[in-house]
Parts: sequence; structure tokens; C-alpha cells
Amino acid sequence: MAATRVEVNIPGEAPYDVRIGDEVLDGIGAWCQRTAALAYAPQVLVISDENVAPLYLARAKASLERAGFKVPDIVVPAGESSKSVEVVSELWEAMAALGLTRDCAVLALGGGVVGDLAGFAASTFMRGITVVQAPTTLLAMVDSSVGGKTGINLEAGKNLVGTFCQPSYVCASTDCLATLSEREWRCGCAEVAKSAVVDSDDFFFWLAENAPALMARDTEVATQAIARCVVFKADVVAQDKTESCGVRECLNYGHTLAHAIEKLSGYGTFSHGAAVAEGMRFAAALAHELVGASLDFVNAQADLLDALGLPRLPWTADPAAALDAMKRDKKARAGQVRFVLLRDVGDWEICEVDDDVILAQLQAWNASAPKEA
Ligand SMILES: NC(=O)c1ccc[n+]([C@@H]2O[C@H](COP(=O)([O-])OP(=O)(O)OC[C@H]3O[C@@H](n4cnc5c(N)ncnc54)[C@H](O)[C@@H]3O)[C@@H](O)[C@H]2O)c1
Repeated sequence: MAATRVEVNIPGEAPYDVRIGDEVLDGIGAWCQRTAALAYAPQVLVISDENVAPLYLARAKASLERAGFKVPDIVVPAGESSKSVEVVSELWEAMAALGLTRDCAVLALGGGVVGDLAGFAASTFMRGITVVQAPTTLLAMVDSSVGGKTGINLEAGKNLVGTFCQPSYVCASTDCLATLSEREWRCGCAEVAKSAVVDSDDFFFWLAENAPALMARDTEVATQAIARCVVFKADVVAQDKTESCGVRECLNYGHTLAHAIEKLSGYGTFSHGAAVAEGMRFAAALAHELVGASLDFVNAQADLLDALGLPRLPWTADPAAALDAMKRDKKARAGQVRFVLLRDVGDWEICEVDDDVILAQLQAWNASAPKEA
């Protein structure tokens, strides 16, 4: 199957290609050579993590070296804890020690953690050098590698420090998904479902029909799902590059409750995607109450999430504690919790929801939660 190319055009930014397909990683050097921003880069520093590097670093380096680049690499520990001031500081020092100059580039080879971390390090080193993203998780291919958000975490919260920095090229090599765990695969499927529900009937019904094939990791279906998500996200980001006019907030669908679930249950207890799926179900129940979403919509979304292996979670919490966690989320404004609510597929609005409505809905949510297996 030939690789798929999506061109991302964001006003005020150089357009860039997202190339999606089997083994496109082996052609990454040639594509970098064809990309104006790094054609003459003396060095391309590959940043990866301890899980991804043994699997894919040699292939990426070999391709870049064949294209004539000098290719140093840095491998960071896997996991969210690498998105820290300490690790980014080590990266800056290493980049300086390697003699990276303004015309060099960074290639982020890994999931969203590596993408956010390496993107942040590159976008701040010497006031910004070129970034290429080579996402290796489904979540990173469908979401984090496109759109230009980079970031690290603070004690006070996730992604509190970051930049907007569009990559110059995104290389989504679908063969890399074969080694992804089932948990990480489903995590990515939740973001695909989110994109489909927020985007359009066309994407939603296509995904509903192809959910079993996506669950079975069918290459053609996965490639199409990634391409559709990239087109959707690029369109949203093109309208609101820096999340300043409200449009980009739609990408937060399901995330208001998800962030509270992750915080209250302890990060890692449920995958981010499993929490997002729960948040989408909760938002749909709220939308039925508040903005006239039909039960047909609520049930169709639930069926889609079930089909993608994202069932209701055995999660309950004290409603007051969950509300408090939502209020502390960085998307809340002046202590008012904001939800993306959908009246129907593709028809969304941002709603500030009163505390008593949220508390009542959380109470009902607890009562209907499945028991722990
Ligand atoms: N910048 C954005 O717009 C944006 C959007 C969504 C999420 N994010 C960020 O993305 C991060 C989550 O990303 P993620 O879900 O990809 O997590 P991750 O990067 O931690 O990857 C998950 C796990 O899978 C491993 N892994 C990665 N690729 C693999 C492969 N091909 N085979 C085997 N193992 C592999 C990793 O080493 C890690 O252990 C969060 O930090 C989140 O804040 C950013």
C-alpha cells in the first residue's frame, strides 16, 4: 500500500507534510533532505526513549545517515516523568555539548512524551531550531505530533510550561505500531473516537463501520484513521493556532472529566484514553441534560466506544473531590468548569456548567458505574 501524504497548512507557518504508511521511517532521511528547513542541517539529533530506541533508533539513524546527515542521539527514560525541567535541562546541555547550531534539527522518535519533550527542547534551544516528529504510538500519530503544542510538566500540573512550535515534517511509520501494547493501542483509539465524534458524520459512521478492523490493527484502516485525524486536527489548528479564539478547545472533548479521573485515581491507574472515553460518555450525558443532545447520539457514541474496547470504567469518586479537581484544571476559567458539549456528531459548543449540575451528574455517574471486575 502506497504511503499517504497530508499537507498541513497553518496560517503564518510554513506548510508541512505528514507522511503515513508502512516503513516510511526508512525513508525519513530522504524526506528530510527534501524539506527546506533541514535540507542543509549539519546535524539531526534524534531524541528517543528507552523503549522505542532499541526498536527503531537504528533504522531512523541509518536512513538519516544515508541522506548525508550527522546523526547523534539521546535516549531518555520512558514515561511521563521525562517531561520535566530536569530532563529538558540535560537535553539543552547535551545539545550545546554536541555543538548543535541554529541550522541543526531535532527528530523526536517516540510517543507523545518524547514528542512534547523533544519539541520543547528544540523550540527553546537557541530560540528555536527545526523539529521533525516521528511518532511511534497511535496517540502521537493521530494527535500530539501535529498541531505544534510542546510541553513539560511541573509539580503543580501537567503541560504547564510549553511552546507552540510546528514541526517541519511528520513521519508516521505505521509498522512501528505492531509493537505497541494493547493498552496503548486502545488509548490511541479513544483519541480517534474523539476526533470522529467532534468532526463529522462522515468520519463517525466510517469509524463505527471500521471499528472492528481498527481494533484488529488492520494496516489500511489504521492508516486511514490516522489520515482522517490529521486532516481534522490540522483544520482545527489552522483556525486557532494558539488556542486563543475557542475553536481549538473542541480537541478537549472528554478531557474535563478525564483529567479529574487521572488525578483522583492516580496517574497510570487508567490509561489516558480510557479516561477520555469515560469523559466523552459523561459529557454526552451532560449534553443530553443541557443542550438537547438526543439519546440516539448518546447511545451511538457509547456503542462506538464499546466497539473500540473502551467500556465504562469501574470508577467512582466523591463528587465534591471530582468537582474540585475539575476546577483546578488549567482549562477552567475563574473557577468555572468548562465542558465541550455536543448536541450531535460534529455540532459542539463550549459550556460553563454550574457546580450543582455537575455534582448531580457525578452522583448519577457513581450510581451507574460498573462494579470492579
Ligand atoms: N502536544 C500535543 O498536542 C499533545 C496531545 C495529546 C497528548 N500529548 C501528550 O502525549 C503524552 C502521551 O503520549 P503517549 O500516549 O504516546 O505516551 P508515551 O509517549 O508515554 O508512550 C506510551 C508508552 O509506549 C512506549 N512506546 C512508544 N512507542 C512504542 C512502540 N512503537 N512500541 C512499543 N512501545 C512504544 C513508550 O516508551 C511508553 O512507554 C502525554 O504527555 C500528553 O500530555 C500531547
